[in-house]
Amino acid sequence: MQELMLETVDNPANVAEWAMAEMLNKPEILQKACQEIDSVVGKERWVQEADIPKLNYIKACAREAFRLHPIAPFNVPHVSIADATVAGYVIPKGSHFLLSRAGLGRNPKVWDEPLEFKPGRHLKDGLSDKVDLTEPELRFISFSTGRRGCIGVALGTEMTAMLFARLIQGFKWNVPPNESKIDLSESEDDLFLAKPLHALAKPRLPAALYTQLDY
Ligand code: HEM
Repeated sequence: MQELMLETVDNPANVAEWAMAEMLNKPEILQKACQEIDSVVGKERWVQEADIPKLNYIKACAREAFRLHPIAPFNVPHVSIADATVAGYVIPKGSHFLLSRAGLGRNPKVWDEPLEFKPGRHLKDGLSDKVDLTEPELRFISFSTGRRGCIGVALGTEMTAMLFARLIQGFKWNVPPNESKIDLSESEDDLFLAKPLHALAKPRLPAALYTQLDY
């Protein structure tokens, strides 16, 4: 139960919070995400699981949040069970190693303008490109990969995309009236926002959708 709570609540919540924070400072990205939902889903019903394969820009934004703002600095520790060579580095049997999530996701040799939130980088062929939240090449870490990679990719992807898509679909978001921008500073202790995100939300769907129980 603890695994489920940590993995499925913290990860999607972290992605949604960081992506929203970045997008509030880049309204053109927020608008593009909103337009995608309006054209794929419309305003008469909530996003459903069946819509997710078509919400590629939404997933590109979530993917960008995983890349730039991982929930923890390192992946779960692993121990090698045999001598191995990876990218020219000899890793003797029994080595303990930690992959730096921020080090991978913000690597300037791999990512152009690594500190910029640019969801378009995940869409090679435009919105028709199929976007997944996994990254088997480990150019950043979302679900990791290999035999010890996450077993909950399908559920984790659904929860992340649903939470994030419904926040964008259901509300028009703005920075609070007394602030000009969202403060994107990271906490000194971890990779969370230093100050929890505060934003102004106004409903944008028919009022009945917010009270129905069978969504
Ligand atoms: C957005 C959601 C999620 C993310 C980003 C995520 C990410 C990860 C990562 C990075 C690992 C470590 C992999 C490694 O050691 O290299 C992991 C492991 C694991 N995850 Fe997830 N996870 C998510 C959702 C879930 C869900 C929904 C479940 C269960 C239903 C789950 C179950 C597990 C388990 C059991 C492991 C340990 C696998 C092993 O050590 O063999 N995760 N996850």
